Amino acid sequence: MKLYVWGTGCGAGELMDRALDPSLVTAFIDSEPFCASFLGRPVLRPEELKDREIDLVVVASRRAEEIAARCAELGIGEEKLFFARSNWRLYDRNRSYPRVEGLFDADFLAALRTPQRAVRDPLWAGENALEEKDLENDYVRVRTLEAICRRLGSVEGAAAELGVYRGAFARCLNALLPERTLYLFDTFAGFDETEASEEGAGFTQAHRNTSAERVLALLPHPGRAILRPGLFPATAAGLEDERFALVSLDADLEESTLAGLRFFHPRLSPGGFLLLHDWGSPRLPGVARALERYEAELGRGLPAVPLADVNGTLVIAK
Ligand SMILES: C[S@@+](CC[C@H](N)C(=O)[O-])C[C@H]1O[C@@H](n2cnc3c(N)ncnc32)[C@H](O)[C@@H]1O
Repeated sequence: MKLYVWGTGCGAGELMDRALDPSLVTAFIDSEPFCASFLGRPVLRPEELKDREIDLVVVASRRAEEIAARCAELGIGEEKLFFARSNWRLYDRNRSYPRVEGLFDADFLAALRTPQRAVRDPLWAGENALEEKDLENDYVRVRTLEAICRRLGSVEGAAAELGVYRGAFARCLNALLPERTLYLFDTFAGFDETEASEEGAGFTQAHRNTSAERVLALLPHPGRAILRPGLFPATAAGLEDERFALVSLDADLEESTLAGLRFFHPRLSPGGFLLLHDWGSPRLPGVARALERYEAELGRGLPAVPLADVNGTLVIAK
């Protein structure tokens, strides 16, 4: 079978680590390849697909519409596409699942067949800062962020994100809070290899695909952003007296998440929120463990509301 996987980002990393054997993949496809091979298989540009024999293209990216349109231009029919991230969207593009049964891990496929339900109307009736592409990230997560930003009002302090990757969520923070300084903490080159040693090869390789320049170019108000590249918490040095109104903590791993909680939680302003991404994710159990450890240090549980978004964000209130 001539099987292609579209994407070499974290969607593809997760698909390969969880559900698909790399030896079955003829090649990966990426319009902006950051490496010549991904998990030992070649990475092609879309135009290189022309005139190739293709049985199936598994789209492991959120940009389903754009990729479907590109495939149509390349003469690849919709019947050859399968969208492995389609259910993160407002509707599921896949019309048929039986054709990929047996190819993917059964649990992965069962999860994919359960589409996410969407909130119908925007939660912020005011100016519409978000774009359609922002909602493709994780509809419930982003719409909830919109509502939280509305609620922040005059709460004092900056916004911050620990764990920025390619900047998709940072873009939303910056768009929704144009008046606030936005601190962005990341290596902008992937995880610390020692801390991520037990994660899959797809997970670690995919997260290297970013840069500080790329993140800045994505922001609607880049002048408000202060990038702190390198390994957190060392990169927070000098910010001890800063206060935060909103923090997105999305470091995936236990020690970095704990370091984030220790630094940001005491510095949250009253009325502020800390969004602990992946708290409910069974794939990243270190996040919930880090919160348990932090709460044990404090000697109390924190007031928090779990979200029913894709990866189980916990909204911690101050
Ligand atoms: C899941 S990604 C973040 C995704 C991003 N928040 C989004 O929603 O688009 C996790 C990021 O955390 C970063 N990270 C994890 N631990 C870190 C640490 N101690 N210092 C700096 N960056 C870290 C990794 O480099 C990776 O880019």
